[in-house]
Amino acid sequence: MKLFLITLIVFIAAALLIYIISCRTLTVSRTVVILPGIDREYTVVHLADMHKKYWGDDNSRLCSIIDEIAPDAILCTGDMTDTVDTGSSPFAAMVKNLSGRFPVYLSLGNHEARLKTGYPFGAKSYFDELRRSGVVILDNESAKLFGRIRLYGYSFDYETKPDKTLLDRIFGEPEQPSILMAHDPGYAEEYAEWGCGLILSGHIHGGAIRIPFVGGVLSPDKKLFPKYDSGLYDVKGKKLYVSRGVGYYFPDRFLSFPELSVIKLMPENP
Ligand SMILES: [Fe+2]
Repeated sequence: MKLFLITLIVFIAAALLIYIISCRTLTVSRTVVILPGIDREYTVVHLADMHKKYWGDDNSRLCSIIDEIAPDAILCTGDMTDTVDTGSSPFAAMVKNLSGRFPVYLSLGNHEARLKTGYPFGAKSYFDELRRSGVVILDNESAKLFGRIRLYGYSFDYETKPDKTLLDRIFGEPEQPSILMAHDPGYAEEYAEWGCGLILSGHIHGGAIRIPFVGGVLSPDKKLFPKYDSGLYDVKGKKLYVSRGVGYYFPDRFLSFPELSVIKLMPENP
């Protein structure tokens, strides 16, 4: 019995230690994606699921990494805050700290979608603060990126499946070259059928618990072994990149390290 108790305590302590290390280890991933239709290289930083997390004062650690990378743009695919956000946002702090050195775009995740509807307390101030900080919010809208790429921001919606019909209705046929920021990669096949060249997502947090050589265990909607949980995928001839997210949302993150993704967009014939 005593041996069992000691083993249990050691096991729990080790798991707790791995959890703390997993939450506090920021990783920088680098990926190359060929995007048909562009005529030069571009570097973008992809962030997702900050969930009010600070990396240093005013996210200074994140900012110094971004400064070193010097990307052409920062693309954020939602859940940069939590549903309850009544104060100053760490995401806005990061953008202010970057002082307009890089353009920042945001599509809405499930937390922002709820904030937008005023649930549970309402936080119009979150979006106002982001806009004042210079964030371009793409709420089912698009923008021209680098004067060349059409960037689409699909807003998470609990009610509706984002199939080709819906995306056509919101955005029309995708222009090429194009990037779609869509928080939930669970609809990757639908996004790919719609036809944009690159899809950027987050939401899954790498599957919360990662098993080496197996992958992520759990999606936020409690589905086991989500198909798209981390990294680059080929989906119906289109590219999908899923970020593990740069923050954490208790109790996830066990060997699923927070991630800042650097994506180099390359032309087909450099
Ligand atoms: Fe999410």
